[in-house]
Amino acid sequence: MKLQIALDTVSMQQAVNIIKKVHKYIDIVEVGTPMIIDFGMEAVKIIKKTFPDILVLADTKIMDAGEYEAKMVFEAKADIVTVMGITHVETILGVVKAASEVNKMVLADMMCVKNLEERAKRLVEIGVDYICVHTAVDVQATENPYDELARIQKTVGSKRCAIAGGITIDSINKVVDYKPEIVIVGGGITGQKNKKEVAATFRQKLDIYG
Ligand code: 5RP
Ligand code: MG
Repeated sequence: MKLQIALDTVSMQQAVNIIKKVHKYIDIVEVGTPMIIDFGMEAVKIIKKTFPDILVLADTKIMDAGEYEAKMVFEAKADIVTVMGITHVETILGVVKAASEVNKMVLADMMCVKNLEERAKRLVEIGVDYICVHTAVDVQATENPYDELARIQKTVGSKRCAIAGGITIDSINKVVDYKPEIVIVGGGITGQKNKKEVAATFRQKLDIYG
């Protein structure tokens, strides 16, 4: 299982400082959607240049103009791009094309997808690497991604699964049994005072389950 830290509402300097602290415990740095809106692809470029040994995911949540936008992301040297799983197949095919041309990866965010299993199968068929169950920040007070994780894991298998949305050190035990390939944590690390210790604890929990 890979641990991905989502850097959302932070400045460039804060992002770099956080990565320095948790570097040892994480596999993927996510340049979060708010950071991309704030700093554009420059954020991706700076983070990849500063930490060349860590995989960088750009959480662009592409909804249209798939090939064009994904190309921009890979030109900025990201390793993984995100596209919304609910959008047109044509858009997702464009993103997959851009990724395959440079040997990079695509994660589909399943936010708002109702026919979860059917859609996940289709996305894998057309070349998406990871299917991510994701509870939106705006509904995390009443919803969580754990039931959807079970459904997606059963449909596409652990190796293609990713999960995000309000995961904390208290809720990680609901995730590890399903062994999703990528566990995405934002505020569960970045919102904590002792970020390094919390990241280390996440790492330990993921490593116990393999
Ligand atoms: C919101 C996102 C966040 O990056 C993702 O939800 C992870 O952050 P958190 O763990 O704080 O929910 O993409 O749309
Ligand atoms: Mg994100």
